[in-house]
Amino acid sequence: MKRLGVLFVALVGCNGGESRLDQVLALTGDEGDGATVFADNCAVCHGADGSGDSGPNIQGEDELEEVIGVVLSGEEEMPSFDGDLSDQEIADVAAYVTAGFP
Ligand code: HEC
Repeated sequence: MKRLGVLFVALVGCNGGESRLDQVLALTGDEGDGATVFADNCAVCHGADGSGDSGPNIQGEDELEEVIGVVLSGEEEMPSFDGDLSDQEIADVAAYVTAGFP
């Protein structure tokens, strides 16, 4: 009698020590898709062209890691988008913002 009771206990996953910031940074953002994410989620506070409204002017933001960080964690009045946007959407919107609103 054969027993095929092989258990694969997957202990990977659980983020394996890699932060979500690292995961998003590892992706290639698409500026075109990011423009849509920005219009839908960010323009209400930062203006359609990033020049500011209730939120500050962010046209000069060129640090990808900083933009991804603030979108993930929020900052003061700026909400966190941790649960709202996928990793790819955050990579896209960060690519769009750091491109300087062409
Ligand atoms: C509810 C309004 C609101 C929304 C929506 C919002 N922001 Fe902000 N954002 C702010 C405010 C307010 C600040 C200034 C935070 C502070 O006082 O440090 C800010 C700051 C920032 C900064 C600059 C952080 C720094 O320290 O230089 C970036 C970049 C940014 N937001 C990007 C985004 C992106 C990208 C989105 C969409 C995914 C977004 N924001 C959505 C209000 C908002």
